[in-house]
Amino acid sequence: MRRGAPPDTDAFIEYLRANHMASNVDLGEVQAVDLRDLKGVDDVIRMLEANVVLPLENAELAAEFGLKPKRGVLLAGPPGTGKTTVGRALAHRLKSKFFLVDGTLIAGTASFYGRLHQIFEAAKENAPSIIFIDDSDVIFEQGGELGLYRYLLTILDGIESASAGRVCLILTAMDVGSLPPALVRSGRIELWLDMRLPDEPARAAILADRCAELPPAMRMAEDGVAQVAAATDGLSGADLKRLVEDGKILLAYDTAHGHPLRSTVEYFLTAVQTVRANKECYAEAEARARARRPQRPAYFDVAGGGEETLFVTGQATAFGSGAMMGFSLDQLAGDDGEG
Ligand SMILES: Nc1ncnc2c1ncn2[C@@H]1O[C@H](COP(=O)(O)OP(=O)(O)O)[C@@H](O)[C@H]1O
Ligand SMILES: [Mg+2]
Repeated sequence: MRRGAPPDTDAFIEYLRANHMASNVDLGEVQAVDLRDLKGVDDVIRMLEANVVLPLENAELAAEFGLKPKRGVLLAGPPGTGKTTVGRALAHRLKSKFFLVDGTLIAGTASFYGRLHQIFEAAKENAPSIIFIDDSDVIFEQGGELGLYRYLLTILDGIESASAGRVCLILTAMDVGSLPPALVRSGRIELWLDMRLPDEPARAAILADRCAELPPAMRMAEDGVAQVAAATDGLSGADLKRLVEDGKILLAYDTAHGHPLRSTVEYFLTAVQTVRANKECYAEAEARARARRPQRPAYFDVAGGGEETLFVTGQATAFGSGAMMGFSLDQLAGDDGEG
């Protein structure tokens, strides 16, 4: 099957290292973002840079000051507030030091424990490093029946004893209440960071950023941006992204049909209504589903294409698809067997 001699394991690992591929994330598949692209959470970004990034990026300074990355960091916040984006930004910034655990790892779960184990081992080998468990509340919920919860706690204890304090665990969660109490209470979470809905200046900054990518004819002047920002109270960063897309479609539609064009601000204000109406539909569907099955968390119940469901799986796929270290090593092992 394979051409030439089988690769020497050490040489292969060296190749991975040299090419910043020790991480289980294929950066080619992860949208390039920077922490500073997130608006209205400057305090959270500063804390992440000081407590997580700096000890990993600046070995000399870390040694001089005896800095260690925090053991456990919790990023808590409603959907669409930039939690997964923090993971994307850290993946790009820390490259081989970044390890992702997300929903894709659990899906079709036969080899799940093996893969999880490999990721934790790789993170320890590459310490100081980060393990980023995205939507950990969902993962823990799903794993309840599978013993995942106990398994993760055991691995976490292993991390602590094996390379004390040198692997930083970042958990994201919408619903902190469904995290295992043992995890939250144990003192593993040393830093709790709240991601939140953007306030008006942050919404204006997000809209301005999104509009900078639009064709010149579609950009809003500063007072237009302020007007839309004022009309979007309660919307998340993700909602604002959708709003700009919807506004674009409305303008394109009128252009295509030769309708007289309205001002750009009007298109965006119309889009605010659509986004709000959609959110209401989802919220109603969710409430109905929760009434039927009260013990299940809300985001499972938006079955059949609800926002949250798509959100969770969509992100997980875009972020981690097929890029698991365990996956490629399994394949290599398979090749060895045949060759
Ligand atoms: N504060 C923010 N500033 C700029 N963009 C944001 C902000 N919050 C969310 N977004 C954007 O919204 C989208 C969804 O964010 P995401 O990180 O997936 O949210 P979460 O994981 O919290 O549900 C991303 O494109 C992200 O860049
Ligand atoms: Mg997310």
